[in-house]
Order: sequence, then structure tokens, then C-alpha cells
Amino acid sequence: MRKKIAVFASGFGSNLQALIDFNTDGDLGGDIALVFSNDPKAFALKRAKKHNIRAGSINPSGFANRQDFEVEILKILKEEKIDLIVLAGYMFLLTPLIIGEYKNRILNIHPALLPSFKGTRGIKDAFEYGTRISGVTVHFVDGEPDNGPIIMQAPVFISQDDTLDEFEKKIHKVEHKIYPQAVKLFCGDKLKIEGRKVEILPE
Ligand code: GRF
Repeated sequence: MRKKIAVFASGFGSNLQALIDFNTDGDLGGDIALVFSNDPKAFALKRAKKHNIRAGSINPSGFANRQDFEVEILKILKEEKIDLIVLAGYMFLLTPLIIGEYKNRILNIHPALLPSFKGTRGIKDAFEYGTRISGVTVHFVDGEPDNGPIIMQAPVFISQDDTLDEFEKKIHKVEHKIYPQAVKLFCGDKLKIEGRKVEILPE
């Protein structure tokens, strides 16, 4: 059965675009049925609409707490029968409600080699630290930010001449390459979680 995917994005949505493009040129093994944002101005929503994908936002500030906000999101996810949530620059922390409901069915991409440089400034922090190798991590989401079992990692070298801007471009290029691959593995039921480890099953 093809998986139904919801992409959560708060901003530019270049990773969303990479997933859409992958499904145009090839096959993720699933369909992006929904793009959700906490910000009505997110460019990711425009990208989705351009490709006729259902897209919308809910403003979290209209709710008493994050859990009430997620109750509304869950209604939409259930309505669309979503199997997999793909976080792509979603800048709003999930609560145990959605994480519990979608246990082992939420993926995130982080622009550093976890567990190094966690947090929202992974690219800048790695660059300023002076590290020579950073990279990209795709992982399952558990209750702690940037913590769940790692599916895939790819290195990105920081050369002496790189500006932060150049380094950032290199990171994004790698993100756009590996995120669709990881989503495809999930959609093909090729990921088996054993504690902290993720086994990639053979074809
Ligand atoms: C990416 O760098 C991703 O690793 C991080 O947020 C950024 C989102 O970029 N979680 P975009 O909105 O997909 O262009």
C-alpha cells in the first residue's frame, strides 16, 4: 500500500520541493497528501499549492496550549489518513500527543551530524565552532529534540575558504539528496528500529 505523507514546514520549503521533485522524476513509494505549517506565510505552502497538494496552516497562538493546537492538527491528519509525518524545517516543537500517535512514523532532517550541533542553529554553530566535517542527519522523532534513532547521515566538508553562505548551500544540497532517499526507505517498509539503531532492510 502506498503511504500517505504529510510534510510539516515553517519556512522556505526547499526540502519539501526536493521530495515533490523526487516524486515527479521517480517514486518515493508514497504520496504527499498534505503540507502543514504553523505559519500562514511559509513559502512551503505556496510550493505545495503549485503542485496541487492540500496545504494549510493553523496559528498556534489561537490555542490555550500546544496540546490543544495538536488536537486540531491530528483531526486533519486522520481525515487525510496520513501514515507518515515528514518534518522539513518545522520550527514548532511537537508534544507527546502527536509523537505518541505517530510513534516511529515521524522523520526529521537536521543540518549537522547528530549528536553534534543540536538545536535550531546547526549550520552556523558547526561553522563557527571550526569543525572540518559536518553534515546532515535524517532521524526518527522521539520525545527529545534532535534525538531519535538515526536513519541516514552524510558528511559535508568545510573548506578553509568556505563562507557560511557557501557551507550552508553545500548542506542544503546534501539534504535534498538524502531526505527523499530516507522517505523512500520508510515508504518501502525498509526501516527496522532496534533501540537506538535503525537497520536498513535489503531490497
Ligand atoms: C533545513 O536546513 C533542515 O535541515 C532544517 O530546517 C531547514 C529547512 O529548510 N531542519 P527548508 O525550509 O526545507 O528550505
